[in-house]
Amino acid sequence: MLTNNTIALVKQSAPLLAQVGPEITTRFYQRMFNQHPELKGVFNQSHQTSGKQPLALFGALAAYANYIDQPEILSEAILRINHKHVSLGISPEQYDIVGHHLIATLKAEFGDVFTDEIEQAWLNAYQFLADLFITAEHGLYQTAQQQHGGWQGLREFVIEKVVSNTEHIKSFYLKPLDGKALPSYQAGQFVSVFVPEEIIGVQQIRQYSLSVAPNPTYFRISVKSDGSVSQYLHTLSVGDTIKLTPPSGDFVRHNTKAAKVYISAGVGITPMLCMLGVHSQYTPDVEAHFLHANKTQSDLGFTAEVHQLGQSIQHFSTTTWLESDPKGTASGLMDIHAIKETLPTEQGEFYLCGPLAFMTFIKGQLQDVGVNPERIFYEIFGPHENLPN
Ligand SMILES: Cc1cc2nc3c(=O)[nH]c(=O)nc-3n(C[C@H](O)[C@H](O)[C@H](O)COP(=O)(O)OP(=O)(O)OC[C@H]3O[C@@H](n4cnc5c(N)ncnc54)[C@H](O)[C@@H]3O)c2cc1C
Ligand code: HEM
Repeated sequence: MLTNNTIALVKQSAPLLAQVGPEITTRFYQRMFNQHPELKGVFNQSHQTSGKQPLALFGALAAYANYIDQPEILSEAILRINHKHVSLGISPEQYDIVGHHLIATLKAEFGDVFTDEIEQAWLNAYQFLADLFITAEHGLYQTAQQQHGGWQGLREFVIEKVVSNTEHIKSFYLKPLDGKALPSYQAGQFVSVFVPEEIIGVQQIRQYSLSVAPNPTYFRISVKSDGSVSQYLHTLSVGDTIKLTPPSGDFVRHNTKAAKVYISAGVGITPMLCMLGVHSQYTPDVEAHFLHANKTQSDLGFTAEVHQLGQSIQHFSTTTWLESDPKGTASGLMDIHAIKETLPTEQGEFYLCGPLAFMTFIKGQLQDVGVNPERIFYEIFGPHENLPN
């Protein structure tokens, strides 16, 4: 347990953190990577360059310092981080490395203000949080391994089929090389693909949402060609293999009777396809709406699949907005106000995935038409950020 003294000292140093800002976590990562270059292969290097991961870690530390005495406020964020860690195979020993460099960075940045007493308080507080994380992540690893078809660590999958959905998106149908059973997963979850050092110069790990409802024979991921890993994946063909961690993630479809609205832009459609698949298979009597935004007609790769899945749902609608194509169902940007009468604004659950600016725009519109933010769930294809309320 944390003592009152530790809690008070950590809370007192929260303003110090706020003063320095995310610079401090950028320096922490530089320091840690200098001493542990092998960890560069665990962290997404694009998120380091863009500053998004230092920002995410800074947000988590600042929240911890501010709410260390009200852990219930942090529980949702902690669970999300735990899922991300588990998808990357983070181990208990790595917490010592992170803790060591984090406290050393705070000490170096704050100088004399960071007294021995404050340092000890941060050491205690870090250890307390690390223990919470390690226990929760152990539980997630165990669950993933012990379920039928489950595993821990990496499992090799062979590409059974590749479909080019659009010029930029390819879907990969994957079967385990060992020929054994596949686990089920929750709609919205993702797997991590490990690409070894010899292929792109440094090991890199990327997450890809499972884009089809769980089934006994294959996993499917749908990948947009963008940077290093996705471009490499696009060079693969039938018979090639890739290594995956088990499905994880806390952005999942809730198995309730509430009407569902699946909202996506671009390749953000992937978790929605899985959710719609599960919806059509298991709850066809529950109302569903599928809203999608994209640039042009030729960027639409899953229209037939969405229509086919929607057929078995008793109350289903789908609307597509195309930014620069007058032939779209609706042209221009997605406009929730225009269809608000058809949406379950009072009781429905709203699932969002797409670029950050898109989700911010849509969340604002949803709140304008009366949707309670507690019923808006979203996934960011990168380090998490809070959408403004
Ligand atoms: C939970 C989750 C689910 C996801 N699901 C999917 C999915 O279903 N489908 C999908 O396609 N993606 C998905 N993603 C995104 C995916 O994980 C990768 O981030 C994406 O494929 C890009 O990785 P990359 O290695 O190809 O590109 P990176 O090499 O990481 O590059 C990303 C972008 O940054 C630019 N960039 C890189 N380095 C620099 C630099 N030094 N300076 C300037 N620009 C730079 C690149 O040009 C590129 O545009 C998901 C992500 C998460 C977190
Ligand atoms: C208590 C300590 C820790 C805290 C508070 C913390 C916090 C975070 C946060 C906030 C994220 C972003 C989550 C998201 O995308 O939504 C994250 C991701 C990540 N964490 Fe941790 N973490 C801790 C320990 C560790 C440890 C020990 C490791 C192991 C080296 C680690 C490795 C990673 C990696 C690799 C990512 C993904 C980075 C990316 O996608 O760019 N973390 N962590």
